[in-house]
Amino acid sequence: IAGMATAASALAGASGIALSQGTARAAGNRLPLPELLVPTQQGGVTVFAMQAAFGTHELLPGVSSDTAGFNGSYLGPTLRVRNGQRVRFEVTNGLDEELAVHWHGAHVPPEDDGGVHAAFGPGKVWKPEFTVKQQAATLWYHPHTMGITARQVAMGLAGMLIVEDDSAASKALPSSYGTDDIPVIMQSVAVGSDGGIRYASHSFSEAGMAFPVVVNGVAVESDPLTFTADTGRVRLRLLNASLSETLTVRRIDGTRLTQVATESAFLTRPVEVDEVRMPAGCRAEVVVDVTRETVLEVAVETGVGRRRNSRQSFLTLLPGSGGSRTTPLPSRLNTINRYNVAHLKPRVIALTETGGVLGINGVSGTTMKAMDSHEIVVREGDLELWEVVNRSPRNHSFHVHDVPFQVISVNGRVPTGVDLGWRDTIAVHRGATVRIAMRFTDYASEKYTYMLHCHMAEHEDLGMMTSLKVRPR
Ligand code: C2O
Ligand code: CU
Repeated sequence: IAGMATAASALAGASGIALSQGTARAAGNRLPLPELLVPTQQGGVTVFAMQAAFGTHELLPGVSSDTAGFNGSYLGPTLRVRNGQRVRFEVTNGLDEELAVHWHGAHVPPEDDGGVHAAFGPGKVWKPEFTVKQQAATLWYHPHTMGITARQVAMGLAGMLIVEDDSAASKALPSSYGTDDIPVIMQSVAVGSDGGIRYASHSFSEAGMAFPVVVNGVAVESDPLTFTADTGRVRLRLLNASLSETLTVRRIDGTRLTQVATESAFLTRPVEVDEVRMPAGCRAEVVVDVTRETVLEVAVETGVGRRRNSRQSFLTLLPGSGGSRTTPLPSRLNTINRYNVAHLKPRVIALTETGGVLGINGVSGTTMKAMDSHEIVVREGDLELWEVVNRSPRNHSFHVHDVPFQVISVNGRVPTGVDLGWRDTIAVHRGATVRIAMRFTDYASEKYTYMLHCHMAEHEDLGMMTSLKVRPR
């Protein structure tokens, strides 16, 4: 497999930039795996080198699309870091336009966060360096360039960022990349009849458009992709890297899935779920014991909640030669102390649409000036209660940078099950009110800001986005 390395070659791969991702499709319908980027060590810092560049890629068989990728022509390598590790990402902008690269879900100082304020020009190298300070989680990285995020992400600039830690749960769960710890980057993509990737929803009604579900860079055709689980048990890191679609993953036979992590951390215990519903930008981890052939399917809903594609089988897990692992999963994975917000008055964050203009609290954040002059200001260490109110006629996927939040209520109802887990992205449907709570710890700055926005990329480009400043105590 060009394009994406097999696990063995990924682990044996050369250090630094491996420009080995090509344009070929996976052989034999196998699930391709993004290469695991091998870092270098430089004076106590673990350094990951990445280069964004344009290229071409066969998303659909026999059709060449103009794309972009990190260290390759579509998507990017998986970055794997550890809690406590000092890391530096050296990102070269090999495009002919501005680029900002954001570590989605990472708890980092605002100057390293890679929001719109951190854009850098063609030929430049951006080198954020920080100490990883968070629990094990499945994060991702993607462009965040003012006004052109949707296009850059749609062209393929996205990858997975895995945080590992020394917790008992991490030790008990599968963690061998590409063997039993599997990235599953899912995208609902819009491709024109000319092979061009479309990112603006008004163009989706063109004649001859195709809307494939793309998994790890290849479109799923009539048959699902396959993965052989040689160790019996696999941990799937699901990422919805779509521009705006909501993806719902289920087992085709209706049996339940075991979810072990939400976006930002392990759940307190494994939770059996009928389905995993992921708004744009969302991740989830499930563990599957592959004792027999297991088929996963996905339903795709557009940003306005219309079904695009229901029940498409996308991945078949096949039992391998290594037998199955029958040891039970740990019954305790994590401790989550619920925030007590009873004494707090909520801060209202309205997702607005007035005269067709998208905004936050009525302000359209299409320039840094507009965003910064209406920034949300919080104080380091304070517990915040936010009431996110959808005052627009469409659904949104609300995302906050820097720290994970707890869901306090959705339309007045308190959460249960997996909704008690830590997250950084949440669906806020038409007319909905969602309360979330979080504490902005460790990093504060008078100068640099984080952001909050709708993660439907088109909406953020159109201004449903603003700055977030964490002031020092
Ligand atoms: Cu995944 Cu502000 O982004
Ligand atoms: Cu939105």
